[in-house]
Amino acid sequence: MTDLLIKNVHIIDPFNNTDGPGDIFIKNGVFADPETAEGNVEIINGTGMKAAPGLVDLHVHLRDPGQTDKEDILSGCRAAAAGGVTSLLAMPNTVPAVDSPETVRYIIEKAKAADAHVYVVGSITKGLGGHEATDIDALYEAGISALSDDGKPVLDTTIMVEAMKRAAQLGIPVTAHCEDPYLAGGKVNEGEISEKLGVKGMPAAAEDAGTARELALAAAYDLPVHICHVSTRTSADMIRDFKKRGVKVTAETAPHYLMLTEEELLKKDADYRMNPPLRTEADRRAMIEALKDGTIDAIATDHAPHTPQEKADFENAPNGSIGMETSFAAAYTILVKGGVMSETELIRKMSCTPASILGIPAGTMYIGAPADLFLYREEEWTVDPDKLHGKSKNTPFKGLTLAAKVKLTVCGGRIVYKDE
Ligand code: DOR
Repeated sequence: MTDLLIKNVHIIDPFNNTDGPGDIFIKNGVFADPETAEGNVEIINGTGMKAAPGLVDLHVHLRDPGQTDKEDILSGCRAAAAGGVTSLLAMPNTVPAVDSPETVRYIIEKAKAADAHVYVVGSITKGLGGHEATDIDALYEAGISALSDDGKPVLDTTIMVEAMKRAAQLGIPVTAHCEDPYLAGGKVNEGEISEKLGVKGMPAAAEDAGTARELALAAAYDLPVHICHVSTRTSADMIRDFKKRGVKVTAETAPHYLMLTEEELLKKDADYRMNPPLRTEADRRAMIEALKDGTIDAIATDHAPHTPQEKADFENAPNGSIGMETSFAAAYTILVKGGVMSETELIRKMSCTPASILGIPAGTMYIGAPADLFLYREEEWTVDPDKLHGKSKNTPFKGLTLAAKVKLTVCGGRIVYKDE
């Protein structure tokens, strides 16, 4: 691996309180003192660009094993690299589910050749069935970094509590997909748009009931929980309230909930269908407010690839949209250009904070840290699904013009993406 010297770049490292010009030296895969750069070094001109610690995405579906027509570990990590994401948390709703040490080991082994660091989530119940607990200790031995039944809530509450207890002892997070399965199950947000379209809606209450349960458990047992893909105002309000009471809750939302609303569904295009669904303008504003005031800690993508064939049928297509290649650009557009927060704050929410929630060595560029970073600059570009790097094209940002562009990504000291 060649050593890298990035010269004359504007460095933004919230962890180190750095926001200004400088050089970055990468030696043997870690950040080193630029003063010591010598010998065979590849020099990168950083003029006009900003450098930030590589993004940490807490919510990614890599589809491998089992659904590699949609994505696989290597293609998913190429998409990550193109979006500045250098560490990602891979959700367990694969086929088979990540409920055995063998599957954990398969993912970790294959990810060694990938363009991003892959952290594996083990499922809390076997086959994500909701009723039979997995062997958490065996999954942990095999290398999981978190627990979740994402894609579904953990149906049996007693199993959820036991998982939260054991996860706390092991020092790994439980990430919760909040949904009441009896209320959920529609196609789009329940309300005006679902009525107009004549399709069954997913009420906000389905998410809120799920959020309320996980918050109640975290409060009652004094255990941490991480709430996935928050999309409703009420869920944000509840999280804010429980945080004020000292409950150990962290939360994420996704760029699509910040930028888009249920109105998009009038296009009858399944690329805009995901779970939780795009909600109302009031919910969208509430997500922005919750990010701004710290109620929501992190921005994650819920990158959920599905093939064009599956997405061709508006009503019957599976839920989910891809997001890693557009997450920073979309969040920058809405939050930084929109005057909601500074670049430093945005990078904190997409890098440092998720790294700390996951407890991984990422999210900073201090000397000696693993050399994960990305360069970007303000540049308008229009999202063209055909130019994206993952296998699937189901982006809800297609055709939108975004205000920042990732230009280069380095993962573990290796250049994994260059915007040519
Ligand atoms: O829209 C979604 N897609 N939400 C989920 O919770 C799961 C995901 C998927 O795996 O496709």
